[in-house]
Amino acid sequence: MQTDDILRVEDLHVEFRTEDGIVNALRGIDFSVDRGTVLGVVGESGCGKSVTATSIMQLLPRPRGVIKQGRILFNRLEGGVAEEVDITALAPGGSRMRSIRGNRIAMIFQEPMTSLNPVYTIGSQIMEVLKIHTSMGSAEGREWAIDMLRRVGLPKPVNVFESYPHSLSGGMRQRAIIAMAFSCNPDLLLADEPTTALDVTTQAKILDIILSLQDEFNMSTVLITHDLGVIAEMTKRVVVMYLGRIVEEAYVHDLFHDPKHPYTEGLLKSIPGTGHRVKQKLHPIRGSVPDPYTKIDGCAFAPRCPHVMKKCVFEEPPLFPVGENHSARCWLHGR
Ligand SMILES: Nc1ncnc2c1ncn2[C@@H]1O[C@H](COP(=O)(O)OP(=O)(O)OP(=O)(O)O)[C@@H](O)[C@H]1O
Ligand code: SF4
Ligand SMILES: [Mg+2]
Repeated sequence: MQTDDILRVEDLHVEFRTEDGIVNALRGIDFSVDRGTVLGVVGESGCGKSVTATSIMQLLPRPRGVIKQGRILFNRLEGGVAEEVDITALAPGGSRMRSIRGNRIAMIFQEPMTSLNPVYTIGSQIMEVLKIHTSMGSAEGREWAIDMLRRVGLPKPVNVFESYPHSLSGGMRQRAIIAMAFSCNPDLLLADEPTTALDVTTQAKILDIILSLQDEFNMSTVLITHDLGVIAEMTKRVVVMYLGRIVEEAYVHDLFHDPKHPYTEGLLKSIPGTGHRVKQKLHPIRGSVPDPYTKIDGCAFAPRCPHVMKKCVFEEPPLFPVGENHSARCWLHGR
């Protein structure tokens, strides 16, 4: 079947083997990203958002982090011809994966300083990326890098090019990281909480920059966040994760106006200022995410769910279709 997915993740299972036991970080997730669009991934801390991104980049900490099962199909366009690559079949340190990582798929990490090396200037770090992934010479590369720094809204881009990371504010560093991520014109951007560390005004500016660049470069983006407000502003389609599983998938409008999974409902009620719930009071979801070593039978949300039924405790629900392009993993919607 001919599709225009740039990325298709199928039945992905990832586990961490730790001294205290096995953490089943991803327990079978499926989603796809349409070319040129932004897919939102949302869920509470520990549900597996970052592990999803690091698996796609083949950057899981080895040997403790292991892809147990599933495929990550990246559909790259090579001279106008589509070529599908299963990332899970590539050696993490091999030349094919290195050429995809950074060149075709770029990632903005949750911790800004993980992306920057404190001992090199911003300019030399962008130039290094360009040297590895493009055929630009040093004069051309310098010009391109300074232009990218200007495009992400950094005043005095030449000064920033020559600065060390520690001399920049958090917002400026994040802009420099975005410039670096975009400098190779990647097909897919994985943005993992790109604004969490920043104040609200800077957050809004950074999100605007990402949106306008992704539009200009016709790039596809996976935007990871725990903030439904960001999802509402930035994305059309969204997947909601809970304990290593996707529990709901929908267009943003449907998710906000007609959530079908009790967990999504809880998330929406818990966040002030999103959509039609602006005037409602905060209702944090009762209970907390169970310890990651817990063995899960039945529905993972059962201990916190206000609608829990007998069946929920013993049998895990599949994803049921609940509308057009809308599905929810909950027994309230099927049997
Ligand atoms: N290196 C690791 N070793 C062991 N367990 C890990 C490791 N990295 C992640 N995990 C576990 O995998 C699960 C998913 O973690 P992940 O970092 O993907 O969560 P997240 O959704 O990104 O959370 P947050 O919103 O806090 O960033 C968690 O239970 C976490 O403890
Ligand atoms: S399957 Fe049962 S416990 Fe799980 S979310 Fe639905 S009603 Fe709640
Ligand atoms: Mg994370």
